[in-house]
Amino acid sequence: MKKSGSILKNLASRRRFLQNGMISAGAATIGTGLLPRSSSAFAQGGDDSSGKLSRGDASILRFLAAAEILESDLSEQYWELSSAAGIAHRGDFASKINPYNPDLIKAITFTAGFHFGFIEQGGTSLYPALAQRVRDPEVLRVVLSIGPSEALHFQVWHDKAGNANAGNPPMTVVDPINNNSTVTFVNLTVPTGNDAVDELLAANLIMPEPCPFLNRSFPVCSIVRPTETTAAAMGVVKAFTADGLFIGQSGEFMQLLHDLATDADQARRE
Ligand SMILES: [Fe+2]
Repeated sequence: MKKSGSILKNLASRRRFLQNGMISAGAATIGTGLLPRSSSAFAQGGDDSSGKLSRGDASILRFLAAAEILESDLSEQYWELSSAAGIAHRGDFASKINPYNPDLIKAITFTAGFHFGFIEQGGTSLYPALAQRVRDPEVLRVVLSIGPSEALHFQVWHDKAGNANAGNPPMTVVDPINNNSTVTFVNLTVPTGNDAVDELLAANLIMPEPCPFLNRSFPVCSIVRPTETTAAAMGVVKAFTADGLFIGQSGEFMQLLHDLATDADQARRE
């Protein structure tokens, strides 16, 4: 278990880590972690006319690597926050989180459930959206192989978010650090008395459902929404920005992120 001091230090340096990791991805060092060294596409470099990696494919992989860094960083932050709250419970951290709120860890965990449901939902669309622009079959294989894991992650977090505070009265928690702001979690599953309706509206459904809101002319089928490929990468940057993930980041960081997304969105199959 980390000491409270090191957790605080980690939280403080988080933004710098994020930027360093992002710049690594932007410097085209990716590939080694995603593909085996024997990969023909990555071992030779250059364009795809001779079995080498095309500029567009490299841009797509670079953007996806950056998105994964952002995702893992967010996950790490939630873990550290909940760890810090746990340490507060034992008294080591009383000056920062005082008095200890027994619902604080729950609130952090519930928030992570909703937040990651949102992130993974985007990932579930992002991989098929960008796969449509990939040229090299081996790169396509990589993208198609990672994509479904996003759907699995989404299912898990949908289940967690749907069950947040289930069966309990509303729970309001005060954030002890950020201006005493509050968050309230309500029981999302409220029985209507109609079993069929209750089953359809259960908050923790994890199986794909028909999507009449996409297009009512569709037959009853389960699909991933949406898979539009135009500006898919920039859509992720906009969503993450609107989500507040990049508050406090430098102009250099934002420029790099926009460049990565622009390059990925300019990739063409031919
Ligand atoms: Fe994911």
